[in-house]
Amino acid sequence: MVDDNRSDHRISVIGMGNMGTALAERLLDAGHSVAVWNRTNSKCAPLGKRGAEVISTVIEAVRSADSILICVLDDDAVQEILSTVGLAPALDGKSVVQLTSLEAEESKAQQEWMHGQGARYLDGGILGFPADVREARVRIAYSGSRAVFDESKSWLNAFGPEAIFIGEQPGTAPLASMLTYAQYYGITYTCMHTMALAAAAGITARSFLELSGGPEAWRQMGRVMDEYVAMTDTGDYATSEATLEIDAADYDYFLRLCDEFGIDASVHRTIKASIEAAISQGRKDEAIPAIFESISCHSKP
Ligand SMILES: NC(=O)c1ccc[n+]([C@@H]2O[C@H](COP(=O)([O-])OP(=O)(O)OC[C@H]3O[C@@H](n4cnc5c(N)ncnc54)[C@H](OP(=O)(O)O)[C@@H]3O)[C@@H](O)[C@H]2O)c1
Repeated sequence: MVDDNRSDHRISVIGMGNMGTALAERLLDAGHSVAVWNRTNSKCAPLGKRGAEVISTVIEAVRSADSILICVLDDDAVQEILSTVGLAPALDGKSVVQLTSLEAEESKAQQEWMHGQGARYLDGGILGFPADVREARVRIAYSGSRAVFDESKSWLNAFGPEAIFIGEQPGTAPLASMLTYAQYYGITYTCMHTMALAAAAGITARSFLELSGGPEAWRQMGRVMDEYVAMTDTGDYATSEATLEIDAADYDYFLRLCDEFGIDASVHRTIKASIEAAISQGRKDEAIPAIFESISCHSKP
C-alpha cells in the first residue's frame, strides 16, 4: 500500500483553471509534493513560484507522478488530454483522481479506459467553490476505487474536513454533487421568487429577509431536514403540526397573489400539483415531506 504521508509522494495536478489552481495551491500549502501541467502552460507560472514543479508535457506530468489529479473543463477536455500520443502507456500503475465534473456514463467509460491502461480510478464531486478549497473547508464526495480513496486520504483531506467515499460505482459522487447544485439552484430560485413577490407587494427584500427569520430560519430548515429525511426513511409522515390539506389551502392564496402581482408561478404550480397528488394518494393528514412519495411515484416509468 502506498504511504501518502511520504514527502516524496508526488501529485501531478492537470488543469490550472480556477478550480485546478485552487486544488494545487491547497496541496502545496498542506506540504505535499506537487507538479502542475496545463494546456496553456503559462498559467502554471504562479504555482511554480509557490513551489510546484511546472511540467511542460502532460506525458511527463503523468510519468513522474504517483497520483494524478485531473480537473479540467469537461469530458471533451479530458478526452483531448488523454488522447495525447504516448500518454496511455505512462498511466500503467498510476492512481488517477478525476475531479472534472463528468456525467455518470462518462465516468464509467473513463474508469474502463483507465483500467485498460493499468491505472486505478477514483472520481469526485466538489461541493463548493475554489475559495472553499483554498480555505480547506470544501466537501468533496468520491466514488470508484476504494483502495485509491484509502491510500490517498491524507492528501484528499487537505481540501476539507473529511473526504467522503460514497460507493464503488464510478460517477456516483459527481452525480450527487450535481443534485446538491440543483438543490441550491432550487432554493435560490424560490427565495428570489418570494423576494420578487414581496417587492411587488411593497416589502423590500431586506425587510422580508428580516421578518422571515433571516439566517436563523435557514439553520432551523437544516434541523427540520433531518426530521424530513427520517420520514422518507421510514415512510411515516404522521404529523400533529401542519397537514398537507392545510398546506394546499395556503398555496391557493399564494398562487392567487402571484397572479395578482403578475409574477410567474409555474414552479409553484408544480409544487402545488405534487401536494395535490399526495392528497389524492390518501395523504391529506400527513406532513409536507410526504410529497417525496408523490414525486417518486410520478417519476417511476
Ligand atoms: N469553479 C467552480 O466553482 C467549480 C465548482 C465545482 C466543480 N467545478 C468543476 O471543476 C472543473 C474545472 O472548472 P474550472 O472552474 O477550473 O474551469 P475553468 O476555470 O474554465 O478552467 C478550465 C480548465 O480546463 C482546461 N481545458 C479546457 N478545454 C481543454 C482542452 N480541450 N484540452 C485541455 N485542457 C482544456 C483549461 O485549460 P486552458 O487554461 O488551456 O484553457 C483550464 O485548465 C469543471 O468540470 C467544473 O465543473 C468547478
